[in-house]
Amino acid sequence: MSETAPVPHDAGLPQLREAAAGCHACELWEPATQTVFGEGPETARIVFVGEQPGDSEDRAGEPFVGPSGKLLDRALEAARIDRRDAYVTNAVKHFRFTPTGKRRIHQSPGAEHLHACRPWLAAEFAVLQPEVVVCLGAVAAKALISPSFRITRERGQLLPWTPPGTTPGEDDEDGAPAQTWVLATTHPSAVLRTPEEDRAAAFDAMVADLRVVATALA
Ligand code: URA
Repeated sequence: MSETAPVPHDAGLPQLREAAAGCHACELWEPATQTVFGEGPETARIVFVGEQPGDSEDRAGEPFVGPSGKLLDRALEAARIDRRDAYVTNAVKHFRFTPTGKRRIHQSPGAEHLHACRPWLAAEFAVLQPEVVVCLGAVAAKALISPSFRITRERGQLLPWTPPGTTPGEDDEDGAPAQTWVLATTHPSAVLRTPEEDRAAAFDAMVADLRVVATALA
């Protein structure tokens, strides 16, 4: 039976990561190798949110280290964003797949998985208090911005946004930013799946979106 995500109160990232390792809030924990929690410094001003770990991430226990992660790294470099200054995470923290012979075929997470995992994302945002959140792909954008969000129409726009679990305009004693912005771009795997003749343009469009973020943070 599923439980509620065991999110500790007032915890830092190491404690959250440790608690998430034992999360059974949905059934995805069982076939997966491990929870893939977010990674990056607590001081990160920018947070990237993908969909869910893929096959490589499930094995490594780290987000965006497989083919999509390598493309993301190239796009960040082109946009002059240092991944070491960013926090990278996923809307769902277990790999959802269908086993087919020796391969594990990615399956998009369902609404119930996004719902079960949301407290982890809220806890990550509460610790990080980022200035900008970048949704990588439609699953993250629909979960965080609006179910009607369309990447094709609304990508690359910085929108004022309230992270889940916080009050709009809330200011922190440490002078943490009161306003958070969100922007959505394409998922790196969508760039990888683009037919070869259009792939460079798809990559350039992603970099252009990321440059909007780099300029806002400069
Ligand atoms: N795709 C995602 O959305 N996240 C990862 O961590 C890897 C691939």
